Amino acid sequence: MTTADIEKKMDRDFQRGDSFITANGVSKIYRLRGGEVYALNNVNLEIFRSEYLSIMGPSGSGKSTLFNIIGALDRPSQGYAQIGPLRLTELSSSELAYVRCNYIGYIFQSYNLIPSLTALKNVSLSHTLMGATPADSDKAAAKALESVGLGHRLDHRPDELSGGQQQRVAIARALVNRPAVVLADEPTGNLDTKTGQEIVDILHDLHRSEGVTVICSTHDPKMLHKSQRVVWIEDGSKRNESIPAELNLKDMAADASAKGDL
Ligand SMILES: Nc1ncnc2c1ncn2[C@@H]1O[C@H](COP(=O)(O)OP(=O)(O)O)[C@@H](O)[C@H]1O
Ligand SMILES: [Mg+2]
Repeated sequence: MTTADIEKKMDRDFQRGDSFITANGVSKIYRLRGGEVYALNNVNLEIFRSEYLSIMGPSGSGKSTLFNIIGALDRPSQGYAQIGPLRLTELSSSELAYVRCNYIGYIFQSYNLIPSLTALKNVSLSHTLMGATPADSDKAAAKALESVGLGHRLDHRPDELSGGQQQRVAIARALVNRPAVVLADEPTGNLDTKTGQEIVDILHDLHRSEGVTVICSTHDPKMLHKSQRVVWIEDGSKRNESIPAELNLKDMAADASAKGDL
């Protein structure tokens, strides 16, 4: 498939609420000396265009493995993931790279910024790698940084920014190529509750005003308040699905801290 073929397939006018990303019988099995580890075990999941979905599960439950598979970073041992009409297991490495660059923005727990570059250059680099000129990239990066409230910190390097500000730079970097999907894997894991909730608010805004599909994982119930839907995973399997109105977030927070999860 050429990149033009991929673009043509993805060009379909997806509407808010259309089925957009699916995991179909996805398993990831690691074969170690002590035996097999099922990081994921037959996960089926449907994610809709423009929704804000949280994936909740304790450490080791398979959240990152699931993110990597639906985010075209890793291949499943069984089953397949699909984005729009693209079945990821059928794509070559270079086709997957194209999908990653063009349609997906990634945010991680550790912000993964380049220490020697300013906020502006950390963000603009992603745009330059897509073929834009340096001047256009800087312009797009400044706009993305302004949209996350960092217009006044363009020339700061990561070590001159707080954790919450660094995560905002990472969000701007994820947004600068205008992805259809943002995958945020425990983006609030290194932040205090208030700063974490500010990051969740920014992600929520993307889903609401820009129609970006946001998938955000966490093990902290205090980060679920803006979710439209929460999918729970445990031991590599999907356990449950709920909408926040059904959740008693206060009890869950108490439960989780009693278990030492927080
Ligand atoms: N490369 C690997 N080799 C062996 N086991 C792995 C590997 N990566 C992840 N796992 C195992 O898979 C399970 C799920 O891991 P992960 O997806 O990172 O969970 P989470 O992100 O929810 O903390 C864990 O038991 C972990 O130890
Ligand atoms: Mg993880």
